[in-house]
Amino acid sequence: MVKIGILGVGTVGASVVNILESNADIIEARAGKKIIVKSGVVQNLSKDRGVTIKLSDNPMDIIDDPEIDIVVELMGGVEEPYALVKKALENGKAVVTANKALLAYHRYALQQIAGDIPLMYEASTAGGIPVIGAMKNGLTANHIESIQGIMNGTTNYMLTKMINEGAKYDEILKEAQDLGYAEADPTFDVGGFDASHKLLILASIAYGIDAKPEDILIEGIENITQTDVAFAKEFGYEIKLLGIAKKVGEGVELRVHATMIPASSMIAKVDGVMNAVSVVGDRVGETMYYGAGAGGDATASAVIADIIDIVRGNHGPMLGYKKGLKSHLTLLPKGEITTHYYLRLEVDDRSGVLASITKELEKFDISIESMLQQPHATDTRVKLLFTTHECQEAKIQEAMDVLKALDCVHGEIAMMRIEK
Ligand code: HSE
Repeated sequence: MVKIGILGVGTVGASVVNILESNADIIEARAGKKIIVKSGVVQNLSKDRGVTIKLSDNPMDIIDDPEIDIVVELMGGVEEPYALVKKALENGKAVVTANKALLAYHRYALQQIAGDIPLMYEASTAGGIPVIGAMKNGLTANHIESIQGIMNGTTNYMLTKMINEGAKYDEILKEAQDLGYAEADPTFDVGGFDASHKLLILASIAYGIDAKPEDILIEGIENITQTDVAFAKEFGYEIKLLGIAKKVGEGVELRVHATMIPASSMIAKVDGVMNAVSVVGDRVGETMYYGAGAGGDATASAVIADIIDIVRGNHGPMLGYKKGLKSHLTLLPKGEITTHYYLRLEVDDRSGVLASITKELEKFDISIESMLQQPHATDTRVKLLFTTHECQEAKIQEAMDVLKALDCVHGEIAMMRIEK
Protein backbone atom coordinates (compact mmCIF):
# COMPACT_ATOMS: atom_id res chain seq x y z
CA MET A 1 0.00 0.00 0.00
CA VAL A 2 1.18 3.54 -0.80
CA LYS A 3 0.23 6.42 1.50
CA ILE A 4 -0.27 9.98 0.33
CA GLY A 5 -0.29 13.27 2.24
CA ILE A 6 -1.81 16.36 0.61
CA LEU A 7 -0.59 19.88 1.38
CA GLY A 8 -3.56 22.11 0.48
CA VAL A 9 -6.96 20.38 0.29
CA GLY A 10 -8.89 22.86 -1.88
CA THR A 11 -10.81 22.10 -5.06
CA VAL A 12 -8.01 20.05 -6.64
CA GLY A 13 -7.04 18.30 -3.39
CA ALA A 14 -10.65 17.25 -2.75
CA SER A 15 -10.85 15.92 -6.34
CA VAL A 16 -7.65 13.90 -5.78
CA VAL A 17 -9.19 12.30 -2.69
CA ASN A 18 -12.49 11.62 -4.45
CA ILE A 19 -10.97 10.14 -7.64
CA LEU A 20 -8.56 7.92 -5.67
CA GLU A 21 -11.64 6.55 -3.87
CA SER A 22 -14.12 6.31 -6.72
CA ASN A 23 -11.65 4.99 -9.34
CA ALA A 24 -9.71 2.85 -6.83
CA ASP A 25 -10.19 -0.36 -8.86
CA ILE A 26 -8.61 0.88 -12.09
CA ILE A 27 -5.96 2.90 -10.25
CA GLU A 28 -4.83 -0.12 -8.21
CA ALA A 29 -4.80 -2.29 -11.32
CA ARG A 30 -2.61 0.23 -13.14
CA ALA A 31 -0.32 1.12 -10.25
CA GLY A 32 -0.01 -2.45 -8.99
CA LYS A 33 -0.60 -1.24 -5.43
CA LYS A 34 -3.40 0.25 -3.39
CA ILE A 35 -3.03 4.05 -3.02
CA ILE A 36 -4.70 5.83 -0.13
CA VAL A 37 -4.68 9.38 1.17
CA LYS A 38 -3.59 9.23 4.79
CA SER A 39 -3.96 12.91 5.66
CA GLY A 40 -4.22 16.48 4.42
CA VAL A 41 -3.12 19.91 5.57
CA VAL A 42 -5.27 23.03 5.33
CA GLN A 43 -4.92 26.58 6.65
CA ASN A 44 -8.43 26.83 8.03
CA LEU A 45 -9.62 23.70 9.80
CA SER A 46 -13.16 24.99 10.33
CA LYS A 47 -13.94 25.12 6.58
CA ASP A 48 -15.71 22.03 5.18
CA ARG A 49 -13.58 20.39 2.43
CA GLY A 50 -16.12 17.69 1.49
CA VAL A 51 -13.62 14.90 2.28
CA THR A 52 -13.33 12.42 5.15
CA ILE A 53 -9.51 12.23 5.42
CA LYS A 54 -7.70 13.33 8.58
CA LEU A 55 -6.88 17.07 8.39
CA SER A 56 -4.31 19.14 10.25
CA ASP A 57 -3.10 22.72 9.94
CA ASN A 58 0.58 21.82 10.37
CA PRO A 59 2.46 20.82 7.17
CA MET A 60 5.11 19.03 9.26
CA ASP A 61 2.43 16.47 10.22
CA ILE A 62 2.82 15.22 6.65
CA ILE A 63 6.44 16.07 5.90
CA ASP A 64 7.71 14.30 9.03
CA ASP A 65 5.24 11.39 8.97
CA PRO A 66 7.36 8.26 8.31
CA GLU A 67 4.30 6.43 6.96
CA ILE A 68 3.76 8.90 4.12
CA ASP A 69 5.44 7.87 0.86
CA ILE A 70 4.30 10.66 -1.48
CA VAL A 71 3.65 14.32 -0.64
CA VAL A 72 1.22 16.08 -2.97
CA GLU A 73 1.74 19.86 -2.92
CA LEU A 74 -1.34 21.86 -3.95
CA MET A 75 -0.86 24.98 -1.80
CA GLY A 76 0.13 27.58 -4.37
CA GLY A 77 2.66 30.33 -3.65
CA VAL A 78 6.41 30.13 -4.12
CA GLU A 79 8.69 30.33 -1.09
CA GLU A 80 6.58 28.48 1.49
CA PRO A 81 5.91 25.46 -0.76
CA TYR A 82 9.58 25.54 -1.84
CA ALA A 83 10.73 25.13 1.76
CA LEU A 84 8.21 22.33 2.36
CA VAL A 85 8.91 20.44 -0.87
CA LYS A 86 12.65 20.73 -0.17
CA LYS A 87 12.14 19.27 3.31
CA ALA A 88 9.91 16.48 1.98
CA LEU A 89 12.56 15.51 -0.60
CA GLU A 90 15.28 15.65 2.07
CA ASN A 91 13.12 13.28 4.12
CA GLY A 92 13.21 10.91 1.13
CA LYS A 93 9.58 11.39 0.14
CA ALA A 94 8.47 11.53 -3.47
CA VAL A 95 6.66 14.75 -4.38
CA VAL A 96 3.88 15.57 -6.83
CA THR A 97 3.12 19.25 -7.34
CA ALA A 98 0.63 21.22 -9.42
CA ASN A 99 2.38 24.46 -8.50
CA LYS A 100 3.56 26.26 -11.66
CA ALA A 101 4.81 29.35 -9.80
CA LEU A 102 7.03 27.20 -7.56
CA LEU A 103 8.53 25.56 -10.66
CA ALA A 104 8.87 28.79 -12.64
CA TYR A 105 11.26 30.04 -9.95
CA HIS A 106 12.82 26.94 -8.37
CA ARG A 107 12.68 24.05 -10.86
CA TYR A 108 16.46 23.76 -11.28
CA ALA A 109 17.14 23.96 -7.55
CA LEU A 110 14.45 21.36 -6.91
CA GLN A 111 15.88 19.09 -9.60
CA GLN A 112 19.21 19.27 -7.80
CA ILE A 113 17.68 18.55 -4.41
CA ALA A 114 15.50 15.71 -5.72
CA GLY A 115 18.32 13.77 -7.39
CA ASP A 116 16.84 10.33 -7.98
CA ILE A 117 13.79 10.94 -5.77
CA PRO A 118 10.67 11.38 -7.91
CA LEU A 119 9.43 14.96 -8.31
CA MET A 120 6.53 15.10 -10.76
CA TYR A 121 4.50 18.08 -11.97
CA GLU A 122 2.18 17.11 -14.86
CA ALA A 123 -0.70 19.13 -13.36
CA SER A 124 1.33 22.33 -13.26
CA THR A 125 1.01 22.98 -16.98
CA ALA A 126 -2.24 22.90 -18.95
CA GLY A 127 -4.12 21.11 -16.14
CA GLY A 128 -5.40 17.74 -17.29
CA ILE A 129 -3.53 17.68 -20.61
CA PRO A 130 -0.59 15.24 -20.42
CA VAL A 131 1.79 17.56 -22.27
CA ILE A 132 4.68 17.22 -19.78
CA GLY A 133 4.53 13.44 -20.16
CA ALA A 134 4.45 13.80 -23.93
CA MET A 135 7.52 16.00 -23.91
CA LYS A 136 9.44 14.00 -21.29
CA ASN A 137 8.64 10.65 -22.90
CA GLY A 138 6.92 10.57 -26.28
CA LEU A 139 9.00 13.26 -28.00
CA THR A 140 12.45 12.45 -26.61
CA ALA A 141 13.93 11.56 -30.00
CA ASN A 142 13.40 15.11 -31.26
CA HIS A 143 15.04 18.49 -31.10
CA ILE A 144 12.10 20.74 -30.32
CA GLU A 145 11.66 23.50 -32.88
CA SER A 146 8.77 25.31 -31.23
CA ILE A 147 6.07 25.22 -28.61
CA GLN A 148 3.00 27.39 -29.05
CA GLY A 149 -0.06 27.20 -26.92
CA ILE A 150 -3.08 28.49 -25.12
CA MET A 151 -1.97 27.84 -21.57
CA ASN A 152 -4.47 29.90 -19.62
CA GLY A 153 -8.16 28.99 -19.56
CA THR A 154 -9.39 32.23 -17.97
CA THR A 155 -8.06 34.49 -20.72
CA ASN A 156 -9.16 32.10 -23.46
CA TYR A 157 -12.66 32.13 -21.99
CA MET A 158 -12.59 35.94 -21.88
CA LEU A 159 -11.27 36.36 -25.42
CA THR A 160 -13.78 33.85 -26.81
CA LYS A 161 -16.66 35.80 -25.26
CA MET A 162 -15.24 39.19 -26.27
CA ILE A 163 -14.80 38.07 -29.87
CA ASN A 164 -17.91 35.94 -30.35
CA GLU A 165 -20.38 37.90 -28.26
CA GLY A 166 -18.86 41.36 -27.95
CA ALA A 167 -18.76 40.88 -24.17
CA LYS A 168 -17.25 43.64 -22.03
CA TYR A 169 -13.85 42.95 -20.44
CA ASP A 170 -14.83 43.54 -16.79
CA GLU A 171 -18.09 41.61 -16.96
CA ILE A 172 -16.45 38.64 -18.57
CA LEU A 173 -13.57 38.59 -16.09
CA LYS A 174 -16.12 38.44 -13.27
CA GLU A 175 -17.83 35.53 -15.05
CA ALA A 176 -14.51 33.66 -15.37
CA GLN A 177 -13.87 34.20 -11.66
CA ASP A 178 -17.35 32.93 -10.77
CA LEU A 179 -16.68 29.78 -12.80
CA GLY A 180 -13.67 29.12 -10.57
CA TYR A 181 -10.96 29.11 -13.27
CA ALA A 182 -9.27 32.39 -12.44
CA GLU A 183 -6.32 32.67 -10.03
CA ALA A 184 -7.00 34.21 -6.60
CA ASP A 185 -5.44 37.38 -8.06
CA PRO A 186 -6.75 37.47 -11.66
CA THR A 187 -3.86 39.74 -12.69
CA PHE A 188 -1.88 36.50 -12.94
CA ASP A 189 -4.28 35.34 -15.65
CA VAL A 190 -5.01 38.51 -17.62
CA GLY A 191 -1.44 39.79 -17.32
CA GLY A 192 0.00 36.61 -18.85
CA PHE A 193 2.02 35.57 -15.76
CA ASP A 194 0.25 32.25 -15.22
CA ALA A 195 0.89 31.30 -18.86
CA SER A 196 4.53 32.41 -18.54
CA HIS A 197 5.10 30.02 -15.62
CA LYS A 198 3.79 27.14 -17.74
CA LEU A 199 5.84 28.19 -20.76
CA LEU A 200 9.04 28.27 -18.69
CA ILE A 201 8.38 24.74 -17.45
CA LEU A 202 7.88 23.44 -21.01
CA ALA A 203 10.93 25.37 -22.26
CA SER A 204 13.11 23.68 -19.64
CA ILE A 205 12.09 20.25 -20.89
CA ALA A 206 12.48 21.28 -24.52
CA TYR A 207 15.69 23.32 -24.34
CA GLY A 208 17.19 23.11 -20.85
CA ILE A 209 16.75 26.90 -20.58
CA ASP A 210 16.94 28.26 -17.03
CA ALA A 211 14.95 31.50 -17.37
CA LYS A 212 12.75 33.20 -14.80
CA PRO A 213 9.50 35.06 -15.55
CA GLU A 214 11.36 38.39 -15.20
CA ASP A 215 13.70 37.42 -18.05
CA ILE A 216 11.07 36.96 -20.75
CA LEU A 217 8.52 39.04 -22.63
CA ILE A 218 5.16 38.86 -20.85
CA GLU A 219 2.11 40.87 -21.85
CA GLY A 220 -1.55 40.25 -21.12
CA ILE A 221 -4.89 40.92 -22.72
CA GLU A 222 -5.75 44.09 -20.80
CA ASN A 223 -5.46 46.50 -23.72
CA ILE A 224 -7.47 44.64 -26.34
CA THR A 225 -10.51 46.58 -27.53
CA GLN A 226 -13.45 45.78 -29.79
CA THR A 227 -11.66 47.82 -32.50
CA ASP A 228 -8.83 45.26 -32.48
CA VAL A 229 -11.33 42.42 -32.49
CA ALA A 230 -13.11 43.90 -35.54
CA PHE A 231 -9.80 44.40 -37.36
CA ALA A 232 -8.76 40.81 -36.63
CA LYS A 233 -12.07 39.52 -38.01
CA GLU A 234 -11.80 41.65 -41.12
CA PHE A 235 -8.28 40.37 -41.87
CA GLY A 236 -8.92 36.70 -41.05
CA TYR A 237 -7.30 36.47 -37.62
CA GLU A 238 -8.35 35.19 -34.19
CA ILE A 239 -6.85 36.73 -31.06
CA LYS A 240 -5.39 34.33 -28.49
CA LEU A 241 -3.09 34.72 -25.49
CA LEU A 242 -0.22 32.46 -26.52
CA GLY A 243 2.86 31.13 -24.82
CA ILE A 244 5.53 30.80 -27.47
CA ALA A 245 8.95 29.11 -27.32
CA LYS A 246 10.81 29.04 -30.60
CA LYS A 247 14.33 27.96 -31.55
CA VAL A 248 15.91 30.58 -33.78
CA GLY A 249 19.49 29.70 -34.69
CA GLU A 250 21.35 29.27 -31.42
CA GLY A 251 18.75 31.26 -29.49
CA VAL A 252 15.33 30.57 -28.04
CA GLU A 253 12.50 33.11 -28.10
CA LEU A 254 10.32 32.88 -25.01
CA ARG A 255 7.27 35.10 -24.92
CA VAL A 256 3.69 35.36 -23.74
CA HIS A 257 1.34 37.87 -25.33
CA ALA A 258 -1.98 38.39 -27.03
CA THR A 259 -1.44 37.22 -30.58
CA MET A 260 -3.29 37.48 -33.86
CA ILE A 261 -3.21 34.06 -35.53
CA PRO A 262 -4.84 32.91 -38.77
CA ALA A 263 -8.48 32.01 -38.07
CA SER A 264 -7.96 28.82 -40.07
CA SER A 265 -5.26 27.43 -37.73
CA MET A 266 -6.15 24.66 -35.26
CA ILE A 267 -5.21 26.70 -32.20
CA ALA A 268 -7.52 29.50 -33.35
CA LYS A 269 -10.44 27.10 -33.00
CA VAL A 270 -9.73 26.35 -29.34
CA ASP A 271 -12.43 28.23 -27.48
CA GLY A 272 -13.69 28.81 -23.95
CA VAL A 273 -11.63 27.59 -21.02
CA MET A 274 -9.91 24.90 -23.06
CA ASN A 275 -6.12 24.83 -23.45
CA ALA A 276 -4.13 23.52 -26.41
CA VAL A 277 -0.40 23.17 -26.92
CA SER A 278 1.32 22.54 -30.24
CA VAL A 279 4.84 21.09 -30.05
CA VAL A 280 6.93 20.81 -33.21
CA GLY A 281 9.79 18.30 -33.20
CA ASP A 282 12.46 18.16 -35.90
CA ARG A 283 11.54 14.57 -36.80
CA VAL A 284 7.94 14.08 -35.71
CA GLY A 285 6.69 17.42 -37.10
CA GLU A 286 3.77 19.10 -35.38
CA THR A 287 1.98 17.39 -32.50
CA MET A 288 -0.91 18.95 -30.61
CA TYR A 289 -2.42 18.45 -27.17
CA TYR A 290 -5.89 19.70 -26.27
CA GLY A 291 -8.06 19.56 -23.18
CA ALA A 292 -9.15 21.13 -19.92
CA GLY A 293 -6.39 23.34 -18.56
CA ALA A 294 -8.01 23.93 -15.19
CA GLY A 295 -10.72 22.64 -12.89
CA GLY A 296 -10.68 20.22 -9.96
CA ASP A 297 -11.12 16.83 -11.65
CA ALA A 298 -9.02 17.62 -14.75
CA THR A 299 -6.09 18.82 -12.64
CA ALA A 300 -6.51 15.93 -10.17
CA SER A 301 -6.42 13.52 -13.12
CA ALA A 302 -2.87 14.75 -13.90
CA VAL A 303 -1.84 14.64 -10.22
CA ILE A 304 -2.98 11.02 -9.91
CA ALA A 305 -1.27 10.04 -13.18
CA ASP A 306 2.00 11.26 -11.60
CA ILE A 307 1.29 9.32 -8.40
CA ILE A 308 0.68 6.14 -10.42
CA ASP A 309 3.89 6.68 -12.41
CA ILE A 310 5.84 7.04 -9.17
CA VAL A 311 4.29 3.88 -7.72
CA ARG A 312 5.17 2.01 -10.94
CA GLY A 313 8.74 3.37 -10.85
CA ASN A 314 8.15 5.24 -14.10
CA HIS A 315 9.03 8.75 -13.05
CA GLY A 316 12.25 9.45 -15.00
CA PRO A 317 14.48 12.50 -14.44
CA MET A 318 12.62 15.59 -13.29
CA LEU A 319 13.22 17.85 -16.29
CA GLY A 320 13.79 14.93 -18.65
CA TYR A 321 17.61 14.93 -18.80
CA LYS A 322 19.37 11.92 -17.28
CA LYS A 323 22.91 13.25 -17.89
CA GLY A 324 22.25 16.96 -17.71
CA LEU A 325 21.96 18.93 -20.92
CA LYS A 326 24.95 20.86 -22.19
CA SER A 327 22.70 23.15 -24.18
CA HIS A 328 24.34 25.62 -26.49
CA LEU A 329 21.01 27.43 -26.80
CA THR A 330 20.55 30.72 -25.00
CA LEU A 331 17.54 32.89 -24.30
CA LEU A 332 17.18 35.39 -27.15
CA PRO A 333 17.06 39.00 -25.87
CA LYS A 334 13.53 40.45 -26.07
CA GLY A 335 14.61 43.06 -28.62
CA GLU A 336 15.73 40.37 -31.05
CA ILE A 337 12.34 38.68 -31.27
CA THR A 338 11.20 38.85 -34.88
CA THR A 339 7.57 38.71 -35.94
CA HIS A 340 4.74 40.61 -37.65
CA TYR A 341 3.03 43.42 -35.78
CA TYR A 342 -0.38 45.08 -35.63
CA LEU A 343 -0.56 48.73 -34.54
CA ARG A 344 -3.56 50.85 -33.60
CA LEU A 345 -3.16 54.66 -33.54
CA GLU A 346 -5.54 57.57 -33.15
CA VAL A 347 -4.48 60.28 -35.60
CA ASP A 348 -5.64 63.64 -36.99
CA ASP A 349 -7.98 63.37 -39.95
CA ARG A 350 -6.10 65.67 -42.36
CA SER A 351 -3.88 65.46 -45.40
CA GLY A 352 -0.26 64.39 -44.99
CA VAL A 353 -0.79 62.39 -41.78
CA LEU A 354 -0.37 59.02 -43.43
CA ALA A 355 2.76 60.25 -45.19
CA SER A 356 4.35 61.44 -41.91
CA ILE A 357 3.68 58.06 -40.31
CA THR A 358 5.04 55.96 -43.18
CA LYS A 359 8.07 58.28 -43.41
CA GLU A 360 8.98 57.49 -39.79
CA LEU A 361 8.41 53.77 -40.31
CA GLU A 362 10.70 53.83 -43.34
CA LYS A 363 13.54 55.09 -41.12
CA PHE A 364 13.25 51.82 -39.17
CA ASP A 365 12.90 49.78 -42.35
CA ILE A 366 9.41 48.76 -41.24
CA SER A 367 7.15 47.89 -44.12
CA ILE A 368 3.35 48.00 -43.89
CA GLU A 369 1.53 44.83 -44.96
CA SER A 370 -2.14 45.85 -44.61
CA MET A 371 -3.99 48.94 -43.44
CA LEU A 372 -7.46 50.04 -42.38
CA GLN A 373 -8.66 53.53 -41.47
CA GLN A 374 -11.76 53.85 -39.30
CA PRO A 375 -13.35 57.31 -39.55
CA HIS A 376 -14.81 59.34 -36.71
CA ALA A 377 -12.80 58.31 -33.65
CA THR A 378 -13.82 61.91 -32.84
CA ASP A 379 -14.97 64.74 -35.20
CA THR A 380 -11.38 65.48 -36.16
CA ARG A 381 -9.59 62.17 -35.66
CA VAL A 382 -9.56 58.69 -37.15
CA LYS A 383 -8.30 55.31 -36.01
CA LEU A 384 -5.46 53.95 -38.10
CA LEU A 385 -4.91 50.20 -37.93
CA PHE A 386 -2.13 48.41 -39.77
CA THR A 387 0.02 45.31 -39.83
CA THR A 388 3.69 45.11 -40.70
CA HIS A 389 5.90 42.65 -42.48
CA GLU A 390 8.38 40.85 -40.21
CA CYS A 391 10.55 43.15 -38.15
CA GLN A 392 12.49 43.11 -34.91
CA GLU A 393 10.85 43.86 -31.57
CA ALA A 394 13.46 46.51 -30.72
CA LYS A 395 12.69 48.39 -33.96
CA ILE A 396 8.94 48.36 -33.52
CA GLN A 397 9.29 49.58 -29.93
CA GLU A 398 11.54 52.45 -31.04
CA ALA A 399 9.24 53.26 -33.94
CA MET A 400 6.24 53.38 -31.61
CA ASP A 401 8.04 55.90 -29.37
CA VAL A 402 8.80 58.08 -32.39
CA LEU A 403 5.23 57.85 -33.75
CA LYS A 404 3.79 58.67 -30.33
CA ALA A 405 5.79 61.89 -30.27
CA LEU A 406 4.31 63.11 -33.59
CA ASP A 407 1.81 66.00 -33.34
CA CYS A 408 -0.70 64.14 -35.49
CA VAL A 409 -0.75 61.06 -33.20
CA HIS A 410 -2.85 61.13 -30.03
CA GLY A 411 -2.74 58.95 -26.92
CA GLU A 412 -1.19 55.53 -26.58
CA ILE A 413 -0.37 53.31 -29.52
CA ALA A 414 -1.73 49.79 -29.11
CA MET A 415 0.36 46.93 -30.49
CA MET A 416 -0.25 43.22 -30.94
CA ARG A 417 2.07 40.58 -32.37
CA ILE A 418 1.01 38.36 -35.24
CA GLU A 419 2.06 34.74 -35.78
CA LYS A 420 1.41 33.37 -39.25
N1 HSE B 1 -5.97 30.25 -13.74
C1 HSE B 1 -5.50 29.16 -14.52
C2 HSE B 1 -6.22 29.20 -15.87
C3 HSE B 1 -5.76 27.86 -13.80
O1 HSE B 1 -7.15 29.99 -16.03
O2 HSE B 1 -5.85 28.46 -16.76
C4 HSE B 1 -4.89 26.73 -14.23
O3 HSE B 1 -3.53 26.98 -14.07
